[in-house]
Amino acid sequence: MINWGVIGAGNIAHRFCEALSKDKRANLEAVSCRTVEKAQRFRQLFPCNKAYGSFQEILDDPVIDAVYIALPHYYHYEWIKKAILAHKKVLVEKPAVINFKQIQEIKDLARKEQILVMEAMKTRFVPGYKEAKNLLLDKKVIGEIKKIETSFCSEHLEYDPNSYLFDCKQGGCLWDLGIYNISYLDDYFNYEISELNVNYRYHDCGVDSYVFAKIGFKDQVGIVECAMDRKKENQVVFTGSYGKMIVKPLHRPLDIQIILSDDQVINKHIEYEYDDFYSEIAHFNDLIESNKTESEIMSLDNSVNCAKILDAIREKM
Ligand SMILES: NC(=O)c1ccc[n+]([C@@H]2O[C@H](COP(=O)([O-])OP(=O)(O)OC[C@H]3O[C@@H](n4cnc5c(N)ncnc54)[C@H](OP(=O)(O)O)[C@@H]3O)[C@@H](O)[C@H]2O)c1
Repeated sequence: MINWGVIGAGNIAHRFCEALSKDKRANLEAVSCRTVEKAQRFRQLFPCNKAYGSFQEILDDPVIDAVYIALPHYYHYEWIKKAILAHKKVLVEKPAVINFKQIQEIKDLARKEQILVMEAMKTRFVPGYKEAKNLLLDKKVIGEIKKIETSFCSEHLEYDPNSYLFDCKQGGCLWDLGIYNISYLDDYFNYEISELNVNYRYHDCGVDSYVFAKIGFKDQVGIVECAMDRKKENQVVFTGSYGKMIVKPLHRPLDIQIILSDDQVINKHIEYEYDDFYSEIAHFNDLIESNKTESEIMSLDNSVNCAKILDAIREKM
């Protein structure tokens, strides 16, 4: 049995624990919050042996094998490092950290300590994403990919001064949503950036509320469009030498449409295994069971490259 501990019991930790309960190899052993009262409330919803009133207690617990870090982005770096040094396997929410320098340091530390660390880029694990990748790269259904246009614009978010999304040190749409767009570019166009143009808009509080980046990778083009101030189609459009593929929704694909140059259209709908979190969790438990220290699907090099692209866009803003 793999004993899990949750660090930070906010919105997403609820979704995580629901999916974790579906993998019979996993046991939710403990939850930790900044107050023990909150941890106890969470424990009533998701029964586990211990409710801790500090994050450090979960790292000091010798029974815990793996931790899920579900804190606001800014705090990931500190707690990933502490978890590695406590020799806990780490699944950390996206974005893993907030810049390239931090993720390089995490990569070096994780490799030195031989500890499994993975950014929870759930997108890459859902069956629809895997099928699209297989059709694009193995079957080459649209030929060579020339362009990837990614768009993830959530509806207009009301200003909330208590939300990390409106906190300048970690908020805005690029870190929160754009990291999913960037993950596609990393997965398909893993080359140095040759050209970069960025348009953007800031919310009055100072966080980015809209970002549009056109990125050249050799002779291929990637578009990152993300927003928290407008609603647009949430999708990825791949343009190849003999057709297009549309994948949606971007962050947890269910539908694939292929439009070939001869106007032939193929539609596919691929359901989740239980939900959009389950496959990522099952993959992480597979890695633990096979004593792997890194994922081949979302490696630390992938996280480093994503952070590099994100930093390059931010530098232009
Ligand atoms: N994979 C996905 O689909 C998905 C979706 C949404 C968000 N996320 C990611 O998950 C992470 C958490 O997002 P969330 O929406 O769950 O956030 P949230 O609801 O605000 O919860 C974050 C938790 O972090 C804890 N925390 C510790 N230090 C804090 C501090 N100084 N300020 C505020 N909270 C602090 C709080 O727990 P206590 O009060 O218990 O201490 C809070 O409940 C983010 O990195 C986000 O990008 C992932």
